[in-house]
Amino acid sequence: RALPDARRGAEAPRRARMTRETAATTRVLCISGPNLQLLGTREPGVYGSETLDQIHARLEARSRSLGIALEARQTNHEGAIVDWIGNAPAAGFAGLLLNPGAYTHTSIAILDALSAAALPCVEVHLSNPDAREPFRRRSRIARACVGRVAGFGGDSYELALRSEERRVGKECRSRWSPYH
Ligand code: DQA
Repeated sequence: RALPDARRGAEAPRRARMTRETAATTRVLCISGPNLQLLGTREPGVYGSETLDQIHARLEARSRSLGIALEARQTNHEGAIVDWIGNAPAAGFAGLLLNPGAYTHTSIAILDALSAAALPCVEVHLSNPDAREPFRRRSRIARACVGRVAGFGGDSYELALRSEERRVGKECRSRWSPYH
């Protein structure tokens, strides 16, 4: 809808300010599940030789360059993952990156937490579960995720962040924009 020139002029500074504020405060929570604290020494032929700290460090650097505030956590406990996802909307996170490790293939509790939180979530895996044992081919959480990045080692996290950035950026813009 076209605005009268005078109004459009008055909106412009506000629009620029909100774009900056939105970009500065978009928060994404990255959760890694069981056994991923062992990256670096855990089956390097499958998962690579990067440690989780190294992956988190480059994810945080990439986030800063995208104007996203990233918080990265790891736990071996399914209930902690459920708590973190459940609290994420109230804590102000706009999106999730989630590598639930083996819980990917078993956890309806994590699936339910994702459905309840209703935040855009990208499923992340270092390996390509579809190319491995048959029991890894089923993801219980996939139906509550916007997509999945798998098979690129630590790069999977960065690629997932990239797609999340586009998604949360779009959702933030559509929340405040007076133009659509
Ligand atoms: C994993 C794949 C899972 O099947 C496995 O149980 C993991 C790691 C991955 O990142 O490739 O722990 O999620």
